[in-house]
Amino acid sequence: ADPDPLQDFCVANLNATFSINGYPCKSVSETTSEDFFFSGLSKEGDTNSNPFGFIVTAGNVKTFPGLNTLGLSMNRVDYAPGGLNPPHSHPRATETGVVIKGKLLVGFITTDNVFYSKVLTVGEMFVIPRGLVHFQRNVGEGKAMSITAFNSQLPGAVVIPTNLFATTPPIPNQVLTKAFQVGDDVVNSIKSKFGG
Ligand code: GLV
Ligand code: MN
Repeated sequence: ADPDPLQDFCVANLNATFSINGYPCKSVSETTSEDFFFSGLSKEGDTNSNPFGFIVTAGNVKTFPGLNTLGLSMNRVDYAPGGLNPPHSHPRATETGVVIKGKLLVGFITTDNVFYSKVLTVGEMFVIPRGLVHFQRNVGEGKAMSITAFNSQLPGAVVIPTNLFATTPPIPNQVLTKAFQVGDDVVNSIKSKFGG
């Protein structure tokens, strides 16, 4: 989904003070082998750092600047038992993934509200069409882990629960009560779970 590159590579200079659609390149003379390798996905993330029991470790242009202009990226996602990667979408990429450990219920919903899902075990793959809302739930006995790949250097993630109930500033209750056909008590309760 990203534009095609105009040269072999363009390792991102994340500190550049000017802004373009993406990142400017660091100079070729400063580019080293280290720029094209990334070990950030080798470690298990902390699934206790949020109420969902999962954690994304991102290998995108911001963590792995060598990906700049190359139109792809990967994530490691760790799941506690029962953990959920909550419904979310990636505005800039199609996602594919493979289960490395455990058992995951993977599902996505189309723009016509059709729901597709399957339980996957180790070695099995899934694909999430660009922009569609999807989730992964750990339905196995122990921990689970998946590796995902995207056709964007920075796919972005719109995480539905926090995108609606944990914004800065908060979305007015008159919007959320009407949208979900519930009272202020329900909306306030959900907001409070995310520190709102
Ligand atoms: C999984 O859905 C991911 O976004 O890595
Ligand atoms: Mn995703």
